[in-house]
Amino acid sequence: MKTAFVSGITGQDGSYLAELLLRKGYFVVGLKRRTSLICTERVNSFYNNPSFTMEYWDLNDASATYRLLLKYRPDEFYNLAAQSHVRVSFDVPEDTVLGIANGTLRILEAIRNVHPKCRFYQASSSEMYGDNPNVPEAGYDENSRLMPASPYACAKVFAHNLVRNYRTSYSLHVSSGILFNHESPRRGETFVTRKITLAAANIRLGHQEYVELGNLDAKRDWGHAKDYVEAMWLMLQQDIPDDYVIATGETHSVREFLDEVWEAADLGDPARHLKINKKYLRPHEVPYLLGDSSKARRVLGWEPKYNFSSLARDMYQCDFNSIVTQKGWK
Ligand code: NAP
Ligand code: GDD
Repeated sequence: MKTAFVSGITGQDGSYLAELLLRKGYFVVGLKRRTSLICTERVNSFYNNPSFTMEYWDLNDASATYRLLLKYRPDEFYNLAAQSHVRVSFDVPEDTVLGIANGTLRILEAIRNVHPKCRFYQASSSEMYGDNPNVPEAGYDENSRLMPASPYACAKVFAHNLVRNYRTSYSLHVSSGILFNHESPRRGETFVTRKITLAAANIRLGHQEYVELGNLDAKRDWGHAKDYVEAMWLMLQQDIPDDYVIATGETHSVREFLDEVWEAADLGDPARHLKINKKYLRPHEVPYLLGDSSKARRVLGWEPKYNFSSLARDMYQCDFNSIVTQKGWK
């Protein structure tokens, strides 16, 4: 039985990845930082699975990384932990950067020193392309120029380069997935897609009047997290480690996502329920993201199952159903 470490287990991707690995017969060790509230909603469905266990760990704690690598000797380590909110990274830059940059360095050093056979996946991000004005027609690929536009993205670039450096210098099996935005009903509530689907469900049920948003013109290549965790696993099954872009190849504006959800909710003109609030604007915006994932499709055989419309509708319907069920609202 293979053993996998998943850092960021309480996050959106960590929970979907753990479910996938458990289905594939792995023993999964979820790495969780200590929080004042337990915050394990996303892992409740498999928390009592005998092939799953949780350990306290933190990106900023090298000794815990060494101790756990020696205790479990995992076959694979998926590093998904991060302060992952781009806007918030302008407010807490040191915490964001230290966790992502030094945190990744700590894990790579620990793997190199005590367990070099362990395969490693790094959660790199399309945010690394930043405000690069030269977007190739088919979208950014693995060779496009990185022009990060936030403390979060600068730290992700550092970690991304470090992975390539450790792969070459020490012949470690370490890979980075450059994942474009991926969403789901488990998406954090302050990311724009989930904010919109939750608001639509609450407005539909008469419990909210409007939604406050920032820049509606930004464009993103949005996929479903369930499809994207499959790509993470595929990367670590290859004989040769490498970096891969994971994206749908379609880009849509925030306004288009809002329109799609309002249509699903049958709410009429979104302008009736919309306020623009400057507090949601960023000091430095990434205006346009489109990914070219032809390498992943060719080498990994990866293919997304969800498209823009089915993603938006799945998220809205799940929010609507869970508000009705949990709160007894009609
Ligand atoms: P998420 O829902 O925000 O989850 C982040 C996870 O990291 C949470 O479990 C969080 O724990 C944990 N974490 C934060 N700081 C930590 C620390 N200092 N020590 C240990 N754990 C810590 O993010 P996600 O959407 O699942 O994304 C997973 C990874 O992929 C992140 O690295 C993100 O930057 C990257 N990524 C995401 C996307 C996307 O569109 N979703 C795209 C590209 C890359 P708490 O629950 O305690 O906060
Ligand atoms: N969060 C948020 N809230 N974003 C808003 C809002 C709002 O009220 N209104 C407009 N936006 C715009 C943002 O300015 C941005 O252009 C776009 O919506 C998407 O914002 P987020 O959903 O916060 O995601 P992100 O693109 O900044 O970052 C996500 O994707 C990255 C991959 O490209 C995160 O998951 C990152 O961790 C990930 O690396």
